[in-house]
Amino acid sequence: MKSLSQACVATVLALIPSSLAFPQLLKEIRRDAGIDAPIFNQPAPSLNKRVSFDPKTQLVSTSGTHKFVAPGPNDQRGPCPGLNAMANHGYLPHNGVATIDQFITGTYDVFGMGVDLSTLLAIYGSVFDGNLVSWSIGGPTSLLNLGGLGGLLGTPQGISGSHNKYEGDASPTRGDLYQYGNSFKLQMSQFQTLYDLGKAEDNYDLDLLTNYRVTRFQESIDNNPYFFNAPFSGVVAQPAAWSFIYRFMANKSSEYPEGRLTGSVLKSFYAITGDDGSFVYTPGHERIPENWYKRAIGDEYTIPFLALDGVKMLLEHPQFASVGGNTGGVDSFTGLDPTDLTGGVFNAASLAEGNNLMCFGLELTIQETPDLLAGIFEDDTLALGKLLPALRNATGSLGCPSLTQVNEGQFDEFPGYAKLKANGQYRRKR
Ligand code: HEM
Ligand SMILES: *[C@@H]1O[C@H](CO)[C@@H](O)[C@H](O)[C@H]1NC(C)=O
Ligand SMILES: *[C@@H]1O[C@H](CO)[C@@H](O)[C@H](O)[C@H]1NC(C)=O
Repeated sequence: MKSLSQACVATVLALIPSSLAFPQLLKEIRRDAGIDAPIFNQPAPSLNKRVSFDPKTQLVSTSGTHKFVAPGPNDQRGPCPGLNAMANHGYLPHNGVATIDQFITGTYDVFGMGVDLSTLLAIYGSVFDGNLVSWSIGGPTSLLNLGGLGGLLGTPQGISGSHNKYEGDASPTRGDLYQYGNSFKLQMSQFQTLYDLGKAEDNYDLDLLTNYRVTRFQESIDNNPYFFNAPFSGVVAQPAAWSFIYRFMANKSSEYPEGRLTGSVLKSFYAITGDDGSFVYTPGHERIPENWYKRAIGDEYTIPFLALDGVKMLLEHPQFASVGGNTGGVDSFTGLDPTDLTGGVFNAASLAEGNNLMCFGLELTIQETPDLLAGIFEDDTLALGKLLPALRNATGSLGCPSLTQVNEGQFDEFPGYAKLKANGQYRRKR
């Protein structure tokens, strides 16, 4: 399913020594992959002029079995607008509980997500928020009350209940948990600010999103005393949440093969109706717009592609790689030194090289996982057996340096992390 150019990018990434400075690296990748247009620049990022547009295979059906059906009271919907929309249109089970394979197939069919990325995200969800097979795109549900499966200690919480395991702070439209008491609903002030940024040009691109990410990151520092930028939810999932808005929601066309995202499409995917100034948010009513075209076949959004987008955002804004948080009051953000945290495998400067940013997030996750699972599973053998290969596949494909231990006690100074352990989800293994 991978296009030739993506296979090239992946190969080139794996081969390039990490000592090359990033701009140089980017140039090499473009040349080797035959990419001559700037990869990331606004207004319409175009990875590769050869990305084709085929209306027949890219039009996403919103009729018949894929007609929009609003969720009922027992249907699960949560923090992810993409998954909510898929469930509303019958690309995932309407009840909002799906298997790993259903997530992989659905995200490919509707959005053109690379199977490498969807496999990692879906398996991660099944282990941290589900029962190793299925998970809920919203909160806990009796459908997953399969006590004992895989040694589960309690009812899986779904991605709505996965704060700092999956769902994190500084999200585009979702509020921080400890600021608003929930982190799965859209906050209108955040949506309105995002909307306003692009409305003059009716264009929402990666540069605009990156600028708003800077604002949101600072807002979390300023307003959330328990802000915690965790390895997975902060370093891996957070950049994804931001880049997905453009990479997946943008409407593809022959004029804009990599997509152009307008305000009306953004509103539809975010369950917003009404006119500017009097927007109405109906939670769970995310819709795939009529006449909307997904990514081209062969132009799937893969892990190496996400790694590139992540590091581009990082180059201009190094705070994004800062694992750490507020230490007991607003405006007390302390970032851990990556050198101390990883015993010197990564350092602040090297995080901006090659795939190191994504490697850093994934490798820390591998090291932390047994501890994190101890609060969820009686016996974590099955869970580890599922998750570690998925994480190692990802680090392998990115050519990551290997990290064999992490100085973990360092997280304890952050109340955002300590709170998780206190509520039983992050109990330390003894
Ligand atoms: C199996 C695949 C997926 C999983 C497990 C997943 C999971 C999540 C989770 C846990 C969040 C919350 C992260 C946070 O706190 O910011 C999130 C947010 C988000 N997801 Fe997904 N997602 C998946 C696929 C998709 C797809 C296909 C799209 C396509 C549009 C998408 C778009 C987004 C966006 C835009 C956000 C940020 C929401 C906001 O705060 O405005 N996701 N997703
Ligand atoms: C997507 O782009 C095509 C071509 O410009 C256009 O006909 C279609 O209406 C657009 N779809 C949406 C939902 O904006
Ligand atoms: C790991 O990668 C291999 C080769 O691409 C693939 O066949 C396998 O399904 C992947 N496993 C996981 C758990 O991602």
